Amino acid sequence: MSVSRANSGLETYQASYCLDRFEPHGSRAHCSPRYSRFVTLTLTLTLTLSMSQKRIIRIGLLGFGVVGQGVWKNIEKNRQALEFRLGAQLDITQVAVKNLSTKREVAVPAECYSDDPSRVVDNPEVDIVCEMMGGTGEALELTRRALKQGKVVVTANKALVCEHGEELFKIAHENGGHYFYEASVAGGIPIIKTIREALVANRFKLIFGILNGTSNYILTRMEREGLSFEATLGDARQLGYVEADEALDLDGIDAAHKAVILAYLAHGKWVKLDEIICEGIRDISGDDIAIAGQLGYKIKLLAVIARDFEANKLSVRLHPALIAKGEVIAGVDEVYNGVSVTGDVVGTTVLIGRGAGQDATSSSVISDIADAVFMLQGAPKPVISEEDEQVYQQLADGLELANPAALAGRYYFRIHVEDEEGVLAKISNILATHHISFATVNQQELPDGTALIMLTTHVSDEAAVAAAKAHLTAESVVVEAPVSFRIFEPS
Ligand SMILES: NC(=O)c1ccc[n+]([C@@H]2O[C@H](COP(=O)([O-])OP(=O)(O)OC[C@H]3O[C@@H](n4cnc5c(N)ncnc54)[C@H](OP(=O)(O)O)[C@@H]3O)[C@@H](O)[C@H]2O)c1
Repeated sequence: MSVSRANSGLETYQASYCLDRFEPHGSRAHCSPRYSRFVTLTLTLTLTLSMSQKRIIRIGLLGFGVVGQGVWKNIEKNRQALEFRLGAQLDITQVAVKNLSTKREVAVPAECYSDDPSRVVDNPEVDIVCEMMGGTGEALELTRRALKQGKVVVTANKALVCEHGEELFKIAHENGGHYFYEASVAGGIPIIKTIREALVANRFKLIFGILNGTSNYILTRMEREGLSFEATLGDARQLGYVEADEALDLDGIDAAHKAVILAYLAHGKWVKLDEIICEGIRDISGDDIAIAGQLGYKIKLLAVIARDFEANKLSVRLHPALIAKGEVIAGVDEVYNGVSVTGDVVGTTVLIGRGAGQDATSSSVISDIADAVFMLQGAPKPVISEEDEQVYQQLADGLELANPAALAGRYYFRIHVEDEEGVLAKISNILATHHISFATVNQQELPDGTALIMLTTHVSDEAAVAAAKAHLTAESVVVEAPVSFRIFEPS
């Protein structure tokens, strides 16, 4: 696909477009050709003159991979309508990549294209820097540099916002720029803007959902086709769904980054990854999914951000959980993401959409570019700007992170045991020692003379479950360390 940059003929085209749109219904049919030509000419000239006064906003792209090319492609695709809505002309002035010889889906004019990020970051002409390189090394340095020059930076980089957001928002604030990050959470779902603006009237008791499309794809296929984790992971790799650093998807780190960002946005508190429960999907077996299904649950990798306003405690966590099939979020399958937001005014609102991919993610980047364009033209900064330290200090006033060990709820256990007499009674006694009683039990014999005991418990807590698992692991009848998952009940 070959594309061209903003050109001077655009204003005339837009003027004709406006004429078509705003002409009174049916009036063209009644115009004489001469009168019609006169009206067209007059309006075209008028609009050409006014459009030519539109400010040109210059954008620099750091990174031209999946997301970067999507941003270019989709700005070009909808350029006329977009510029009309923004009242400004968009000019992608510079694109910086790492390796100039990499073949791209989108061709960029040579004068815009380089492997020198300073042509974006230090370019006095560039108003908006879009950081779509990823990582927390060079991306951090370049973002700092751009913000220190008072530029507006738009990012899709969740790792960077999660780990360095606090510092970067501060730099933006001190230097008169702004840091936008809609694309860093849930791809194309406008969750940042929804929480920050549309739901500004609310305090958020519970935000939870599915924030990683790759793990959701794997769990969906395991459930639907009875495939093993390994087999499904192989397919996900072939489809290019899995990040180069697989731990980001499989160990929950990517979704945890996003949970930390949402927690800050909703509650004004930066939480560190090592302070929260972060568990991935590697331990989930087909048996777990099947038994959960029989009990009326699905297993999903959930981010949970829960605030107890009375105790002023915040719980942020990321882990697989059994969730009742009737919950809307349980029905979010494949690569889709879904976020359920419960506000004290609005009640529960659920947003579902594509959590990643070129077009969905670039939709969010372009939405931030649009906000940046309005801001550069004098519109006030977004409601509850992340740079507004006072607002955020108030939101987080006295707020403490809940102790993860105190988390209470019901649990699911899978215990691999020797298939011998009295084993279930032994397991039951050990659990009772830790004040854990079970609600349901399933037993499955295996061909090698062992068995799987799969049970769900009544309400217990993390500390008791951890102690029970250690106790069980030490028992001779238990073949391998037991696996447990939380049962998530939103209400
Ligand atoms: N892909 C998605 O669906 C998605 C969704 C949401 C958020 N994100 C986030 O968006 C960001 C970009 O993701 P992506 O999938 O587009 O990654 P990608 O396809 O790997 O693209 C990264 C781009 O950055 C360039 N780059 C890397 N280091 C650079 C450097 N030092 N200087 C200049 N350019 C450099 C690369 O150049 P070369 O091409 O020359 O190597 C490449 O063009 C990441 O933070 C990611 O987490 C991605």
